[in-house]
Amino acid sequence: MCGIVGYIGEKQAAPILLDGLAKLEYRGYDSAGLAVYKDGAISVQKAVGKLVNLVNKTDGGASLDGTLGIGHTRWATHGKPNETNAHPHTGSRFSLVHNGIIENEAKLRRKYLKDTEFVSETDTEVIVRLLDKFTEGGEDVDVAIMHLIDVLEGSYALAIIDSLDGDRMYAVKNKSPLLIGKGEGFNMIGSDAMAMIAHTEWFYEIHDKEFAIVSRDGVEIFTSYSQKIDREPYKAELDLSDVSKGTYPFFTIKEIEEQPLVIRRVLKEYQDETGELYIPEEILKDLRECDKIYIIACGTSYHAGIVGKYFFENISDKPADSYVASEFVYNTPKLTEKPFFIFISQSGETADSRAVLVKIKKMGYKALTITNVKGSTLSREANHTLLLYAGPEIAVASTKAYTAQVAVLAILAAAVENKIGINLKYELAVVANTMEGLCSDSELYSDLAREYLQNTRNCFYIGRGIDYYVCLEAALKLKEISYIQTEGFAAGELKHGTIALIEEGTPVIAIITQNNIDLNTRSNIDEVNARGAKSLIISMRSVSSHGDQIVVGDVHEMLAPLVSVVPAQYLAYYASYQRGYDVDKPRNLAKSVTVE
Ligand code: G6P
Repeated sequence: MCGIVGYIGEKQAAPILLDGLAKLEYRGYDSAGLAVYKDGAISVQKAVGKLVNLVNKTDGGASLDGTLGIGHTRWATHGKPNETNAHPHTGSRFSLVHNGIIENEAKLRRKYLKDTEFVSETDTEVIVRLLDKFTEGGEDVDVAIMHLIDVLEGSYALAIIDSLDGDRMYAVKNKSPLLIGKGEGFNMIGSDAMAMIAHTEWFYEIHDKEFAIVSRDGVEIFTSYSQKIDREPYKAELDLSDVSKGTYPFFTIKEIEEQPLVIRRVLKEYQDETGELYIPEEILKDLRECDKIYIIACGTSYHAGIVGKYFFENISDKPADSYVASEFVYNTPKLTEKPFFIFISQSGETADSRAVLVKIKKMGYKALTITNVKGSTLSREANHTLLLYAGPEIAVASTKAYTAQVAVLAILAAAVENKIGINLKYELAVVANTMEGLCSDSELYSDLAREYLQNTRNCFYIGRGIDYYVCLEAALKLKEISYIQTEGFAAGELKHGTIALIEEGTPVIAIITQNNIDLNTRSNIDEVNARGAKSLIISMRSVSSHGDQIVVGDVHEMLAPLVSVVPAQYLAYYASYQRGYDVDKPRNLAKSVTVE
């Protein structure tokens, strides 16, 4: 969603803010802005489009003088992405940046701001106008902030500066993520640690409905009723190299190629001291006692969830189903007597998934979150957490988090009950090696992307069973970064209607890894070929045929999604790259969607 950064210290703030925003650009990139305090005044600069426009406009931050400031990169919800709607929003005294949605903004406008003239179409402007209003009679800023927390409904992470005070900034939070970076002679505010890791490794959490006063040499955190909180900072497990591209042109390709390492890291992190794969007993108890597992997620994580459903049913013989969170929350299916919920979320912040978590908790059910981000909202609010250990995923299109999710789900399913006797420790090691082999074939994928995808308007992925689940993810990857309209289809279903869309030259990519259905999918390929399709086959060696364009090395059939998805990720990457797009930041998307 939107990214927030704030700095107070001795150095020129604007370049530090721009650098922090660059690390947060994955959260949104349709406009950006800075507000910097100097000598009793606040200067604001904004630019539409990617951050580079703001960098150019402010001469890399050199043109905005001052050692206290806030910045924002936006993914529009209320109002178009233009300069007026871009943050920071400034009233008569304060300037602030906001991530989240104020649900009662209309009511607040009516109740407190009847005579106020608004310049933007945003809910954020309501907050800054309220702050002006609440300090009108000379009230202290912290009292006004408490008042604000009292009246605001919805989600917000705020960084606020005051034109009457050059010695502090304020951080306020509810539901949207926000951290404080602790420095020596400076302090920072940021949506996540990545925005600040170049300057500090030490962070304070702020919890919902708390606020913080951040000055050059101190941080004070308070509850919404002014009770000071004694909270120790924690050291982030994050390395600067984790958040930089190194020699890669895009994070997407870096993250695709990190996947063998990620699988090995998952294997290491889920071993106990005897070297056996291990999941905490309290999690297994809940899973064993339930009568059905409900997996809830969005986007790529949902696609990992359907593979997870397959694992629970086929490795642990446990009924399971995977649901799109935004549907489940308002169209909840009839639940079994003893349900157990698993939330899968790379970011741990996705609002649609959280809405389900809030709902099922109210119903008295327990949940496990599988996430890449320790301490994220979905992790904090669930009963249990399993981490992905994928390292920060910066590219908007998820790659390594997907494979880490699938690997963790396999380990979890086998820990619940290993009915098929799969030796996951060995099989996942084979997967990592096979992935490595695939990563050395990038030239082949680049050539195939040029041959099959360079000029096409649309494309199909087809497969059966678990291959179909991978087709859904492969299609999402291709459409989200290359804008080629792509559908993942159950191979057998294609002829029942969608085959009408096959024209001369339409690319149809088949994924074939399973012994029991390879011939069926090959017949479906013959059907589309007969109608002019240009087919490309990704097969696993044991079921490959002469002429298959991509053959992946053999892994345990159950784990095939972990390897068959890799060439599909590469094809998507090259299709986008060859069309000249910004692969890491596809249009209209955001990495972490914290609004429903
Ligand atoms: C956004 C991203 C997707 C992601 C989905 C779920 O829509 O653009 O790439 O799969 O959110 O995110 P999560 O963090 O919950 O896995």
